[in-house]
Amino acid sequence: MIPDSIIEDIRYRCDIEDVISSYVTLKRAGSNVKGLCPFHSEKTPSFVVYKDTQSFYCFGCGAGGDVISFIMRQENLDYVSAVEFLARRAGITLPEFDGKTAPDGPSRTRILKMNTDAAKFFRDMLFDDTVGAPGRAYLAGERGLSSAVVKHFGLGYAPRGSALMKHLKSLGYSNEEMEAGYLIAKGDKGYYDIFRGRVMYPIIDVSGNIVAFGGRVLDDSKPKYLNSADTPAFKKSKNLFALNYAKNSSEDALIICEGYMDVIAMHAAGFTNAVATLGTAITSEHARIIKRYTSKVILSYDGDEAGKKATDRAMGLLREAGVDAKILVMKGAKDPDEFIKKYGKEEFRRLLDESRSRFDYVIEKTVSKYNMENADDKIKAADELCREIASVYSKIERDIYIGKTAEALALSKESVKHDVETIIRRNARGEKKKQTENLIRITSGVSDRVNPDYAKAPRTARLEESVIGILLIHPEYVSLKVDGEELKEDDFFTDLGKRLFSFIVEKNREGSFSISHLVENFPQEEVSRAVKLQMSRRELSNDDKAYLTYASALRKEIAGNASSSLEDIISSKRNKK
Ligand code: CTP
Ligand code: MN
Repeated sequence: MIPDSIIEDIRYRCDIEDVISSYVTLKRAGSNVKGLCPFHSEKTPSFVVYKDTQSFYCFGCGAGGDVISFIMRQENLDYVSAVEFLARRAGITLPEFDGKTAPDGPSRTRILKMNTDAAKFFRDMLFDDTVGAPGRAYLAGERGLSSAVVKHFGLGYAPRGSALMKHLKSLGYSNEEMEAGYLIAKGDKGYYDIFRGRVMYPIIDVSGNIVAFGGRVLDDSKPKYLNSADTPAFKKSKNLFALNYAKNSSEDALIICEGYMDVIAMHAAGFTNAVATLGTAITSEHARIIKRYTSKVILSYDGDEAGKKATDRAMGLLREAGVDAKILVMKGAKDPDEFIKKYGKEEFRRLLDESRSRFDYVIEKTVSKYNMENADDKIKAADELCREIASVYSKIERDIYIGKTAEALALSKESVKHDVETIIRRNARGEKKKQTENLIRITSGVSDRVNPDYAKAPRTARLEESVIGILLIHPEYVSLKVDGEELKEDDFFTDLGKRLFSFIVEKNREGSFSISHLVENFPQEEVSRAVKLQMSRRELSNDDKAYLTYASALRKEIAGNASSSLEDIISSKRNKK
């Protein structure tokens, strides 16, 4: 358990608006701020941050909570890790967590230490006269890397056999720790080293920790690359190879490519703003991480079909994250590494400068897909491009694209513009309808996953929500006497209502209650629901008089209708038959 005082301190120092605005572009809307929800895809902002209650709520998808729940969702962390994350951000030390062993395995700290020792070992092996000879020959010969570059990236060599396991054992690491860190695995004949006979690329996070490894064979055997699986210290979908260096580059764009060797070749040639995903396609998490460093990237994927697919996907995700992606078109070589070797860095610089905007790329792709001599085809192409333009947020950007489309398809600017505007209006209506439906679905309790008891008696459940909503704003009302007696758990109807009420009572007795306390003790969807109840109640009467009225009605409803819930009605009808 993290002491309450520390949690309070973190909440105090991590203002919710500050924290969220490093992930979401927020615009002022009345006393609150609003932005595009990071938890679902939308084009009109329905994600609201409330400064006074230090909470957020999305009217589109129903996500809500405090600054800690935001980080849990956004960074995909559990409660304790989210607290640690914010503590680091605020510069608060949590000494009691250092090196602490989680009940379910070795800690992140321990694995990071082990990785550092493993990386040292791999490097020593690479430079060992006999053991490292094949690795050195491969890196210097086949890959043409200077020893300065090899050292800069901390490259190493994993010998055959189980050399790493023996070494780490001698340093006091257990098999469980090595297994959790994805350095050894268990087979029929016991544990063995995962990386054997490979050149090793340590993966270093932006704080300088060695979080994982990639390893490449020296010949054509398979699998060509092995990468660490996710461990307590590493998440593939969140790390970018060489971001630790690229983040300090003076270029304002990041170059994203596919392979370790591409990155290394680019850095060696002076393009120190290159990064790569690690044996996976780019994820929305990558896109958001990139957005923290830059809003411009150049995608430099392989020229093959797989590379084109990866480019398409990356563009979509980057755009959602608000990152502008240009596309480098590879010519005469398979990938950047090969290109630089063949044509040199000046030519590569030229490719970078020629990289085209995403929309030019889309136009070209669309135009080449259809036959422009054929009227039907041309209409289809125009429609596709107009839809694409309609999905762009900025009007200036849209105007530029309208011009380009008109030119590429030999149409008038006016007609393209007209079609784009029609699509925008249609989309807006669609989205509004979806939001309303969503809201109706949530408030009516039909197929309510979060509060499954709701549908049993929606009227009673709605009353209960009013009472809970008021208590979430004024928890001290729990001690008010309703018709002579305080409310009790039995006066509530749904399981969620009962639990929320009891929790408010308990925290209120301890001296304070806030939504934040829920975050530690309730699942995310239930916290979201509570924030929603609190938020919607704020717009309605919520003083002590309102509380007494609703509470009294709720108690009567439950006492009187105890036997008239939907289930009871159904079962009593059955019994009559
Ligand atoms: N990759 C992987 N596992 C494989 C193959 C590839 O994880 N079996 C990942 C690696 O991160 C690799 C990237 O995909 O760097 C690109 O792979 P590929 O295009 O096949 O190789 P190159 O980068 O050209 O590798 P090399 O130049 O070393 O042959
Ligand atoms: Mn390559």
